[in-house]
Amino acid sequence: MLQQILDFLPEDHPWRGEIHWFDETDSTNAQAKALTLSGAPHGTVLIADRQTAGRGRLGRSFQSPAGMGIYMSVLLRPQCPADQLMHLTCATAVAACDAIENSIQLRPGIKWTNDLVWGKKKLGGILTELISISGQTCVIIGIGLNCCQSAGDFPEDLRDMACSLAMISGRKINRAAVAAQIIMALSDMDARLLSDKTAIMDIYRRDCITVGKDICLLRGGEVLYGHAHSVCDDGALLVSFSDGHTETVNSGEVSIRGMYGYV
Ligand code: BTN
Repeated sequence: MLQQILDFLPEDHPWRGEIHWFDETDSTNAQAKALTLSGAPHGTVLIADRQTAGRGRLGRSFQSPAGMGIYMSVLLRPQCPADQLMHLTCATAVAACDAIENSIQLRPGIKWTNDLVWGKKKLGGILTELISISGQTCVIIGIGLNCCQSAGDFPEDLRDMACSLAMISGRKINRAAVAAQIIMALSDMDARLLSDKTAIMDIYRRDCITVGKDICLLRGGEVLYGHAHSVCDDGALLVSFSDGHTETVNSGEVSIRGMYGYV
């Protein structure tokens, strides 16, 4: 599979020398963290056929069966303080949408902040993790994308909420080709992350299906109802709540009315 991915990447792509393939691993994000601590360079890519402990946001697990998805992590060592990277998850979501659009000519939506969706169903997700080593900020970007599943391949409890590139396109998916598109989109994103922040976030705002919807925010055991108006350049969601106050929300789980079982 590694050779197939390389075949789809330009000969001079700067990241092609540091792509690590695993038939199986616990979590590519966890492995990326270990490589970061041992000095792996900016642009190191890890991809697994299967994860036994794939991690999602808010401590959840990410189902990562063999032969079905793309489970990828990329290590970046940005030359800037962490507070300039608040939009990184959003920028990664835009890059993932670009890669999917280049692969199957369909552009998914983004459910704030980190879910890639098609209609009301989840296609994949993003988990970015920051580590500080001797004052230097290192970033691990994890992307999980359902590629080859049919509806029956998902566990019953996820079936109504999940879909794959194969299901939405009706085509057979070449995971190596999609993985190469993701690597290219992420390296483009990396080159523009700081210089093109507002342009990237304008695309995020356009693609974000949460904007303009009634939402429910679960935060610290509290449930709040409101309306999502926009996304700020730092990735925060601007929400007016039913008690009249308006807030930029940075954390917590946001459910959209009519989606993932929230009615
Ligand atoms: C989410 O849906 O909450 C985020 C899912 C992120 C999953 C990817 S798969 C590759 C990388 N390794 C992990 O353990 N998680 C991310």
